[in-house]
Amino acid sequence: VSEPKVYNAPKVVSQFMRSDAGLRVICGPIGSGKSTGCVIEILRRCQQQAPGPDGFRRSRWAVVRNTAAQLRDTTLKTFFDWIPPGVAGRWKESDKTFFLEIGDVRAEILFRPLDSPDDIQRVLSLELTGAWLNECREIPREILDALQGRLWRYPSKINGGPSWCGIICDTNPPEEDSFWAKCIEHIPQIEGDVDSIVPCDSFKQPSGLSPEADNIENLANPRYYIDLVKGKSEDWINTYVHGLYSPSQAGKPVYTKAFRSDRHVSRVHLVPTGDLPIIVGMDFGLTPAAVFMQMQDNGRVYILREIAEFDMGIKRFIEHRLRPVIKNTFPTNQIVVIGDPAGVSRVGTDENTCFRVLKEYGFTAKPAYTNDPVTRIGSFMEAFSKYPDGDPMVVVDPRCQKLIEGFRSKYRYAKIKGSMEKFTDRPEKNAWSHTMEAAQYGMMFLLNKYDASDYIRVMQNEHFLFDTAPVHRPADSHTGY
Ligand SMILES: Nc1ncnc2c1ncn2[C@@H]1O[C@H](COP(=O)(O)OP(=O)(O)O)[C@@H](O)[C@H]1O
Ligand SMILES: [Mg+2]
Repeated sequence: VSEPKVYNAPKVVSQFMRSDAGLRVICGPIGSGKSTGCVIEILRRCQQQAPGPDGFRRSRWAVVRNTAAQLRDTTLKTFFDWIPPGVAGRWKESDKTFFLEIGDVRAEILFRPLDSPDDIQRVLSLELTGAWLNECREIPREILDALQGRLWRYPSKINGGPSWCGIICDTNPPEEDSFWAKCIEHIPQIEGDVDSIVPCDSFKQPSGLSPEADNIENLANPRYYIDLVKGKSEDWINTYVHGLYSPSQAGKPVYTKAFRSDRHVSRVHLVPTGDLPIIVGMDFGLTPAAVFMQMQDNGRVYILREIAEFDMGIKRFIEHRLRPVIKNTFPTNQIVVIGDPAGVSRVGTDENTCFRVLKEYGFTAKPAYTNDPVTRIGSFMEAFSKYPDGDPMVVVDPRCQKLIEGFRSKYRYAKIKGSMEKFTDRPEKNAWSHTMEAAQYGMMFLLNKYDASDYIRVMQNEHFLFDTAPVHRPADSHTGY
């Protein structure tokens, strides 16, 4: 019999434990204490269960893993590491059940795989207090949904009922766009349908190589992650060490090589320069999008804001989204809209073309000089590759979520069904593509047609805004240039 062990939860694991949400997921690198945290969390909740009429704290738990082999080789091993049979209760091999008996705690912990339809049927007929989905990225959504219907059934109401019920999950990062990635990120499962967001409390651990890494203090080898990355592929390291979602297999990202989030995304909010024009790249149609950009005196392009809407006509978009953002964020700037050339002919919500509507609202608006996808996409390829004076030409404000996701991976060539490595020759239309196109119209203009002096605003007293001291600024305190 081993010495009693003291458990101190790593930072993110302890945050995970403190949540009372009915569905919780902890996601992070390998070896970060996730599974151990779940074992201890079950133990804790068993102790927190109020005693029933017989004086015992009764609860029933399912521990679910996708295969029996993994259940035996990893899940159960972790469990027995912390709760050895004979000390805190007894293990019944034929039932794959641990009967936890400490003080007045009486809990049943059932270990269940999902190999066969019969296995699944057995899990989904249980009456439970809670469940732990170990490596949940391997477990189908249907199991989760059905398990939620098995909670609040033990102990029964006449025996006092459960004090708390819920499902806890731990996992290495799932594939981008998968059910679990959307669940963790609170992204709708059905595009554009906020009702399809799965209610879930999520906890993401830092990279194993970051100074804040969880569980480092408990690893026998302090160089664990440093040694682990040797000889591994970039994708593997990103997932298992850095804790990032693995790239979706459904397509090939357009900007994945050119865009570097560590260089092109500002760590702090960007501040627009008050006296330089704002270029608004715009895509029309029923999914309108606008991207606010500004070329600084030194040639750097700040991507400051984005707005994107579903199912909204041009007039409502201007009144409810475009004008408020301009009034609040760019009150003194000259605004120049560069739009999808198709907007010249395309009918908006009424009989007018989009450009005519924009002009009616007082905007300076013109069509981009081409809608050729190669030129459009190429504009950002070119801009991302430029590093004047060693610093990136393009700097994106961290609030531009859609753009950053799009640049990273969501703007992509779709995989042709049934093929191994064949992709469509145009990026697919999705929740990111409209914002990406809006940005591309703006960037094509800035790279090829833009001259700030064309847009100097004449003040009422006839003085030019620029007609003051020569333009010289100290380095921007936010970006350092
Ligand atoms: N709080 C803790 N105190 C001591 N050791 C821990 C603690 N949490 C985890 N460990 C140990 O760290 C290692 C990795 O933990 P584990 O829970 O298996 O990580 P993960 O499931 O994230 O891969 C195991 O050897 C485990 O016993
Ligand atoms: Mg684990």
